[in-house]
Amino acid sequence: MKKSDQPLRPLGTVKYDNHGRVVLVTGGCNGIGRAICDGFASSGATVVCADVATVLQDQLPAGVLFQSVDTSVEEQCRAVVEWTVEKFGALDVLVNNAAIQPKASYTSVDQLDSSELERMTRVNFFGYTFMAKYALGQMRRQQSGVVVNLSSGQGHRTARQVPVYGPIKAANLLQAMQWGVEYARDGIRVVSVSPGAIDTPLVRASLAAQGGEEALANRHPIGRIGRPEEIANAVLWLTSGDASFVTATDLEVDGGLGAFGAFADPYQR
Ligand SMILES: NC(=O)c1ccc[n+]([C@@H]2O[C@H](COP(=O)([O-])OP(=O)(O)OC[C@H]3O[C@@H](n4cnc5c(N)ncnc54)[C@H](O)[C@@H]3O)[C@@H](O)[C@H]2O)c1
Repeated sequence: MKKSDQPLRPLGTVKYDNHGRVVLVTGGCNGIGRAICDGFASSGATVVCADVATVLQDQLPAGVLFQSVDTSVEEQCRAVVEWTVEKFGALDVLVNNAAIQPKASYTSVDQLDSSELERMTRVNFFGYTFMAKYALGQMRRQQSGVVVNLSSGQGHRTARQVPVYGPIKAANLLQAMQWGVEYARDGIRVVSVSPGAIDTPLVRASLAAQGGEEALANRHPIGRIGRPEEIANAVLWLTSGDASFVTATDLEVDGGLGAFGAFADPYQR
């Protein structure tokens, strides 16, 4: 790990211009979704933040409009897409980010309460599909657009005690691939992003179950967990014209976590 946060050499930076674009982010009130809203808003986009959480409009940055939406309810997904298009005339980007991982879902499958299975499937799988169903209809009419599904390293690899979250995250990868292939000739790109551990309320809630912050950080070759804006930056690039040949694929943004074999010597702490 670097001794100081001060870079020794210039790192290079990228600036995005999203003026005129209309962006819909689910679960935008917290964590990664909030950083994505901030990234789009500060680069000029009009952002609709669709979340079940109650938030006051004045707690959101300028350019971000809150809409109360439960993505597990198809009718609410249809309504927020229609509202967005009626108000702003188009939909350029959908970020499917809203997902849940309740404490009770950390168990083995034989102990799983089926109501947890149903709840997670409704939000984490159906919710992504409902939002894509209406957003992709609009994007096909426009003949343009980008959809990003937030998946996870757990969609690629697994662990004990996560019989539902990871398998649905794997489905989120395949949704992006399938939708990407389906709509590729309509000027629409669909991709997924798979974060490693990122410092958000979702991860904070499960830190103890993951051995604490230091242990979790040490599992990442980079030696720390990620920041929400590091995922937002990947989303900004993927949804920009600079990523125009990138579709129906996944980007792991994980500090090397996915490359680190279970057989490898752990890093010294
Ligand atoms: N944080 C991580 O380390 C991590 C790692 C890999 C993948 N991810 C994925 O990134 C995404 C964001 O994770 P996060 O850590 O920021 O989560 P978070 O729990 O911090 O925030 C999730 C947001 O989604 C909202 N939400 C929950 N259910 C909803 C529903 N039915 N309808 C609308 N909004 C709803 C919540 O109110 C909250 O604002 C998720 O898809 C998650 O699976 C996160």
